[in-house]
Amino acid sequence: MSAQISWPYPRVLAHRGGGKLAPENTIAAIKVGLEHGYRAVEFDAMLAADGVPVLMHDATLQRTALNSGTVSALHAADLQRIDVGGWHSLRFVGETVPTLEATLDFCRVHQVWPNIEIKPTPGFERATGSAVARVTAQLYSDQICVDGDQRQHADARVPLLSSFSRDALMAARDTAPALPRGWLVNGVPPDWYEQLRRLGCVSLHVNHRYLTAELARKITQAGVWLFCYTVNSPQRARTIVGWGVDAFCTDRIDLIDANVSCP
Ligand code: G3P
Ligand code: MG
Repeated sequence: MSAQISWPYPRVLAHRGGGKLAPENTIAAIKVGLEHGYRAVEFDAMLAADGVPVLMHDATLQRTALNSGTVSALHAADLQRIDVGGWHSLRFVGETVPTLEATLDFCRVHQVWPNIEIKPTPGFERATGSAVARVTAQLYSDQICVDGDQRQHADARVPLLSSFSRDALMAARDTAPALPRGWLVNGVPPDWYEQLRRLGCVSLHVNHRYLTAELARKITQAGVWLFCYTVNSPQRARTIVGWGVDAFCTDRIDLIDANVSCP
């Protein structure tokens, strides 16, 4: 990996679509992000029962739909009839679970750059990684550069896939090797560099609480792009950007300017 190539994507992303201002992982959330000047977004993609990737963080519908069902037991068409907006506020009543495909369509039309977190339920790691990569590669087929190093030829419009699941990342790689991938970790493990290389990932996505200036220096000097989640204070954002962090996502799109934290 070469240290000379700088992060080509936006540096501040709305977490789960629109942070805390909208129901997570919905198209409405991305619209709220746009209202706040956010043209970059992180969201979670999980498999419905019919193998269609949909936007969802939890395996169950309890928290965001006040429903006792599970995502993996329902087809995408059924999920599109379930209200996942009302739990947030009256404004969003009637908002439903979008498919990944519909969400990426929206992102393309509105020029929003997505970081798609592959969020498999247990046992579906490879299936989820593969399905998310397939849908993404189809929708961005005109922008993906199929040859060469992913960092050298990174197109700033093409989504970045990421996951805590190494199996999901490997399956995504097998399905669409030209899509860039990032490895999500909580703390940074001692063998992070070897693992990242084995996975063929371009970036390391770290919980900012466990990042230090020293770790950030090691990661960026190794020529690895460094992403942090989920940074909700402007002061903390300035600190980590000062350490060389390339990008981060935030729930506080009302407090953190989408452009102000660029180095
Ligand atoms: O992608 C970063 C972040 O979203 C990971 O945590 O639980 O919010 O998906 P979570
Ligand atoms: Mg996420």
